[in-house]
Amino acid sequence: MKAVILAAGFGTRMRPITHTGPKQLLPLANKPVIQYTVEKLRDASITELCLIVGYMKAPLMEFLGDGSGFGVEITYRDQLERKGLAHAVSIAKDWVGDDSFIVLLGDIIFNMPIKDMVGQHEASGAPCSVALFPVNDPEKFGVAEVDDGTILRVVEKPKEPKTNLAIAGIYFFSGPEVWDIIGKLKPSARGEYELTDTIEIFLKRKRPVNAVKLKGSWKDTG
Ligand code: G1P
Repeated sequence: MKAVILAAGFGTRMRPITHTGPKQLLPLANKPVIQYTVEKLRDASITELCLIVGYMKAPLMEFLGDGSGFGVEITYRDQLERKGLAHAVSIAKDWVGDDSFIVLLGDIIFNMPIKDMVGQHEASGAPCSVALFPVNDPEKFGVAEVDDGTILRVVEKPKEPKTNLAIAGIYFFSGPEVWDIIGKLKPSARGEYELTDTIEIFLKRKRPVNAVKLKGSWKDTG
């Protein structure tokens, strides 16, 4: 399994601190937030990483380098236009090749071991798994409706959320179908190619999407 980390965003919700640096380098307990994710991937024996970079990429690339200082191998790809999370993932298509892969947002922090999530994804046999975490303000996130470990529906930032289960920014994909779906996406109401819409299309095609309920804590650092 390979990993694609999305780290190109402007960090608008964290201004003014993101005027002078990328949000992925904001320190949490003396460590840049992205370092936790890189170390968690390494601990799960996922060592081939592709970072999608854009805004303030120089300090991020300087900090992580080729990954050898963290026990991983890092490749970088530029997202020149901010066209959404699914667009960012599509930039890694050639690098991912035929492998299964995990997609992680570069600004989240969580403590469930990634190995446990990979185990659940692989055991499900589904082409897609999505990590979920209960929150008090689901209208600020993608929100999932779930039945017995299977996702029934996902909606991006619903005005009236049906559940409190937020899409946590950790996704697993196996098989080529994800590339077909991303290639056919239309921009959402906010003008972006969304991973949430990608999941919804798996569901419309009657493909199973597995819910990984995160244990422990999780936060979108924004
Ligand atoms: C993104 C996703 C959303 C998810 C959130 C997690 O939102 O679109 O589904 O719940 O990350 O942090 P964004 O941060 O782009 O608004």
